[in-house]
Amino acid sequence: MVISRKNVTTSFLFSLPGLKLGDKIIEGKTKIVYALPDDPANVYILSKDRITAGDGARANDLEGKAVISTATATSIFDLLTSAGIKNHFVRQHDDKSFIAQRCDMIPIEWVTRRLATGSFLKRNVGVKEGYRFSPPKLETFFKDDENHDPQWSYEQLLGAKLEAGGRVIGRDEVEIMSRTTVAVFEVLEKAWATQNCTLVDMKIEFGVNTKGEIVLADLIDSDSWRLWPSGDRRLMKDKQVYRELKEVTAEALDEVKRNFQWVAERVKLLQTKPSAQVVVLMGSATDLEHGQKISKGCQALGIPCDVRVSSAHKGTEETIRILREYEGEGIPCVFVAIAGRSNGLGPVLSGNTSYPVINCPPVKADWGAQDIWSSLRLPSGLGCSTVLSPDAAVLAAAQILSLSDHMIWSRLRCKQLYTYLGLKDSDKEVRKDK
Ligand SMILES: Nc1ncnc2c1ncn2[C@@H]1O[C@H](COP(=O)(O)OP(=O)(O)OP(=O)(O)O)[C@@H](O)[C@H]1O
Ligand SMILES: [Mg+2]
Repeated sequence: MVISRKNVTTSFLFSLPGLKLGDKIIEGKTKIVYALPDDPANVYILSKDRITAGDGARANDLEGKAVISTATATSIFDLLTSAGIKNHFVRQHDDKSFIAQRCDMIPIEWVTRRLATGSFLKRNVGVKEGYRFSPPKLETFFKDDENHDPQWSYEQLLGAKLEAGGRVIGRDEVEIMSRTTVAVFEVLEKAWATQNCTLVDMKIEFGVNTKGEIVLADLIDSDSWRLWPSGDRRLMKDKQVYRELKEVTAEALDEVKRNFQWVAERVKLLQTKPSAQVVVLMGSATDLEHGQKISKGCQALGIPCDVRVSSAHKGTEETIRILREYEGEGIPCVFVAIAGRSNGLGPVLSGNTSYPVINCPPVKADWGAQDIWSSLRLPSGLGCSTVLSPDAAVLAAAQILSLSDHMIWSRLRCKQLYTYLGLKDSDKEVRKDK
């Protein structure tokens, strides 16, 4: 990429194909952030071919690192966006840069650990390497290179009354970042597990965007985590290899680069296409609205959903044929049965398949209290479950499918995160009115 200096007077200094760059907002050890005069809510983030460790005590040029880092970060942000995590990433610009929301950064490193290793062991003498934290351990460090990023307790974090983007970092803000950090870790941990890699720990940062929202910012790449293929420390593929070098030779740097490249390739495989489906079977088309609500809910979680009409009472053979059709597709499938009055559909499906069946009868006010028993009181040997609302059917199906699909699991995880944070927001609003 060529950056050409232009003879411009005020608002912008550089131009790139299709992009005017403004002032340099900040230049750090590994990247440079530029303003975008035509797009004040966003910035341009350019990675450098630079690797550093020990708060900059060790630093080397590493040709190709910017491209590898940008590719890794782009894949990770795509995955997190698809899972539902609010973040600053807008789009990749070229192989070394991306556009992100302009943030006022909060100078805290949020660290999550699944396994105890590294600095944790030094700070917590007596803990054995590999100790497993459940839930993941959360730690916060104040970003201050000169003082080697001191660890801050929750109380120190509150006491500092940090300000960013017009927000004072108080209890609510800390809660948003703490909860989001753990969710981000768990989403990435599940994703890496599909590649038989253990995400041991991870560091992230947050900023406040121009709308005043706290979003995941900076970037996540091989500098941000410890990653152990097959859970084996000796196979580590992260920046720790560079940190532990006795001597930085050209060959050693080459190995570091090869590891980073391996990660940048693997990371593309983390975001998988759905390999799961929901099939809604309705006894009659009169319940289409009920069925469509389920289909819409599934789509929001990235789960393909077919809606079909088939009555187990009036078209038993066809119902079984449809069942076999979906079983034959060979991907995880949950059936949802919608049948009013006497629900024969769900129990018949359940008695003829080992796939999960969920009854979601469209219970009406008149006979609902009686009709529900046809879903609940089952012949022996059947294991279908029953829920009353389309939303509950979607969630029950998604939870089953999430056991074998980490993207569905991640979307459910993020949905719960933002439901909780939404409640906190409501609480804040209510308190304001008092
Ligand atoms: N969306 C964003 N808007 C504004 N600044 C950002 C954004 N994302 C990241 N930054 C900031 O860009 C700066 C440069 O990044 P870099 O990682 O190179 O810095 P650094 O030398 O590691 O210093 P630091 O210790 O602050 O991370 C950092 O201060 C980072 O917080
Ligand atoms: Mg940094």
